[in-house]
Amino acid sequence: MKISNVLSGLKPHVIYEVLISSISVNGEPNVAPMGLRFSEEFEEFILYPFKSAKTYRNLVEVGEGVVNITRDPRPFVLGCLPELKRELLKDLERSKLVKAPRLRRSEAYIEFKVKEVREESINRVEVICEPMITYLGDLRIEPYSRAVYALIEASVNASRIEVFLNKSRELLRLLNGLSYAESIIRRTGEGSEYENLFNLLIKSIEKILRQTSSPSPSP
Ligand SMILES: Cc1cc2nc3c(=O)[nH]c(=O)nc-3n(C[C@H](O)[C@H](O)[C@H](O)COP(=O)(O)O)c2cc1C
Repeated sequence: MKISNVLSGLKPHVIYEVLISSISVNGEPNVAPMGLRFSEEFEEFILYPFKSAKTYRNLVEVGEGVVNITRDPRPFVLGCLPELKRELLKDLERSKLVKAPRLRRSEAYIEFKVKEVREESINRVEVICEPMITYLGDLRIEPYSRAVYALIEASVNASRIEVFLNKSRELLRLLNGLSYAESIIRRTGEGSEYENLFNLLIKSIEKILRQTSSPSPSP
């Protein structure tokens, strides 16, 4: 079944945020938030992983994966930092065709194989993917919430903190973004699961910042 027949609202050229699940050559499952862009006719799509990501290695070495589509911000928060990921790995289950697992309770799935890997820069590639099967999962209807949007933005910023630890201007930009997201989440999601997820994210970020600011022990 064509992607656009199953997912009728999709638009080409737009970058969508999804969860990519994959598996290593040793059989270790993984899942991480990634951006994706469909081609004009939806016959393929492109992922843009950094070479430092496990997802990149798995996709290149095993050659297949699953796009998990969901509007639930929880997997984006738990998947964006290695420290939080353990909890999310428990939500993986068998897929239909590929060895890579899929994320339970997602709204739709695209199981795919890797067609081509193009070098985009020294630290990033384009992975061209071909869908094998597309099908629906569990529909999740929730009215649009600014807290959800802010939580996704906060997760993107959180995932870049470690990379930019030594680049003060970039780091400041990320922290400002987090502060803006915080103001929205506290205002529109006070006392909610979304505020709890944000608190979890902040705790992990503080840990990363503390680890790097504490002096290394003298030899
Ligand atoms: C919404 C969202 C989109 C992201 N998109 C990408 C992406 O396109 N490419 C990438 O390498 N990392 C992206 N990230 C960051 C990765 O998810 C993050 O670095 C993660 O730890 C990678 O996990 P892995 O090493 O297990 O693959 C994104 C994060 C979020 C929250």
